[in-house]
Amino acid sequence: MKNNLSNIKKATKYLNNDQCIGIPTETVYGLAANAYSDKATLKIYKLKKRPKKNPLIVHYYSLNDLKKDCFIDFNFLKLYKKFCPGPISFILKLKPNSCISSNVTNKKKTLAVRFPRHKLTRNLLKVLKYPLAAPSANLSKQISPVSKNDVIDEFGKKIKFVLDGGQSKVGVESTIVSLIGKPKILRLGGIERKSIEKFLINKNKVKFKKKKIVAPGQGKIHYSPGIPIRLNIKHPKSKEAFILIKERKVYKKNFFYLSKKKNLKEAAKNLYKTLRIIKKNKFKSIAVEKIPNIGFGETINDRLIRASK
Ligand code: TXA
Ligand code: MG
Repeated sequence: MKNNLSNIKKATKYLNNDQCIGIPTETVYGLAANAYSDKATLKIYKLKKRPKKNPLIVHYYSLNDLKKDCFIDFNFLKLYKKFCPGPISFILKLKPNSCISSNVTNKKKTLAVRFPRHKLTRNLLKVLKYPLAAPSANLSKQISPVSKNDVIDEFGKKIKFVLDGGQSKVGVESTIVSLIGKPKILRLGGIERKSIEKFLINKNKVKFKKKKIVAPGQGKIHYSPGIPIRLNIKHPKSKEAFILIKERKVYKKNFFYLSKKKNLKEAAKNLYKTLRIIKKNKFKSIAVEKIPNIGFGETINDRLIRASK
């Protein structure tokens, strides 16, 4: 506890000096900087080698803080009350007088926002005088990090501090819901599509358009471990890493299990961690067993399909 307090103080100091740091969230770790500062947010793009046209997600502590920067509506409030703080992001209309740096939005009049649930990061946000812009803390198009060590893996000494919050409990990015016009899911993620759809009244049913890229960062190649991935495989090649949804009794060096008993939530949590281990073990290719396309299986398949492109 004492340690946490001193780490939050350290984090605050770096952030107040326009530095980028790694922060834990329940989804994945973020590369965070003061969202009101041009200088700080520019560093995020440089470190991640992220194209400037890809806008950033901003993390808030409270609804009151958010209201300074964005317009909110009825649908937002319903989802906020049900799921926040938690693994969901919203696209909202930006207020013209907001202090958000233009680097964050890239001239868009909308803003992606989120209220992370991770306790350490909530405590950090609470003491800051500004919200945090924080995309996932990986180099552009690579696998998102789910621990402090993963962040260090990505950036080495290029970032001076990572707030250690243990392994991310959800393990995949937030679900993004656009509330501009009719509600739409732009990215599948840490909350199942059905729980969001169920929650909104029928006429506002959220749509998830698989083909159209609506979030600029949702390009085809993404979350890539940098080696070929083959999906829906029954029999892997002998030297190939094989990802299975459920533990098997046989032990093989190249077998990697996402969950003990075919639990899709547990599998999603272990996905990025497993891909990173496989990459570190220098396998030349990956085969993946068929993953049921329901609930969190949809999120897992979405990421695997992008990683396999
Ligand atoms: O769980 C998460 O959302 C993590 C943690 C760190 O909070 N963050 C994250 O950020 O995944 P990032 O930048 O890796 O993904 C955010 C996605 C990108 O695809 C980006 O293009 C999209 O959100 N996005 C950002 N602003 C947007 C906007 N105004 N309209 C549409 N899409 C937007
Ligand atoms: Mg990302």
